[in-house]
Amino acid sequence: MALPTETVYGLGADAVNRSAVARVFRIKGRPVDHPLIVHVVDTDSARACASDWTPEAEVLARSFWPGPLTIIVERSSSMIDEVTGFRSTVALRCPSHPMMRRVLEAFPLGIAAPSANRFGKVSPTTAQHVLDDLAEDVDYILDGGPCDIGVESTIVDCSVHPAQILRPGGVPTEEISRVLGSLASTSGPSRAPGMLESHYVPNCRVHPVATRQRALDEIESGLRSRSARDGDGSSAPEILDASIDPDSFAATMYAQLRECARRGVQDVYVILPEDVGIGAAIRDRILKAAAQH
Ligand code: TXA
Ligand code: MG
Repeated sequence: MALPTETVYGLGADAVNRSAVARVFRIKGRPVDHPLIVHVVDTDSARACASDWTPEAEVLARSFWPGPLTIIVERSSSMIDEVTGFRSTVALRCPSHPMMRRVLEAFPLGIAAPSANRFGKVSPTTAQHVLDDLAEDVDYILDGGPCDIGVESTIVDCSVHPAQILRPGGVPTEEISRVLGSLASTSGPSRAPGMLESHYVPNCRVHPVATRQRALDEIESGLRSRSARDGDGSSAPEILDASIDPDSFAATMYAQLRECARRGVQDVYVILPEDVGIGAAIRDRILKAAAQH
């Protein structure tokens, strides 16, 4: 069943039901060693999924749950290998979407849910996106309206000390360091499996640029070389500006990329926001979307 959250729609399965979880991997086409996030209704449920609920996990949960934050801790024996990708840790998130929360009340050991898109593609932020992507492969879609935040949760690994951010997302890094005091540096390859360079790939070429002028220059030189070559009839390039209001841009970012692809736009120039707040998550997704070409 596909479920709404405040970040993106998830494809959910009872976290302790092996065949349901296996079906999620099948539908997504996701490698089995890429673990899923277990969604829980509250901190008590999270503790039941963990064997070592650390002080840092507790502080983060108190500060940001329910909300767009995923906390990684050592798993309890009730968690299954299929969800955790055979790791000793589990990723836990308590979402705020009221519809999702109603469903979670019936699952004390949580709902395992990756984003409800095929592996490697952009996440869905409306029920229609889920239908476009997964169609007959999904039994039910709970339509909770468009997602408020629009980019996935921030992932913080609390199984190490100091805690480390594995994926920038809905909760800004600055807010996490404010409540934790210290954070491990995030340079080097990510330890979250599935953080592939070319993730979040829309069906058009994405070009990150620093300014509108830069986008216009690149479009012009692109047009010149193309008309010299063949003068094909593809749709005009599109410029999306993420720099003016990053929060509202994030809310519709995936929808805009999908719409560009639907219109047959081949080249999308995205004016990057500053690397602060939700801007860090936007930059991360856009740079990964661009890494495919
Ligand atoms: O906002 C979100 O987080 C959305 C909604 C549906 O909650 N979910 C989401 O799930 O983005 P997914 O599967 O697309 O991304 C989960 C990420 C993966 O990159 C995975 O590698 C990482 O979380 N992850 C899960 N469990 C982990 C673990 N035990 N250790 C390290 N990384 C883990
Ligand atoms: Mg995903």
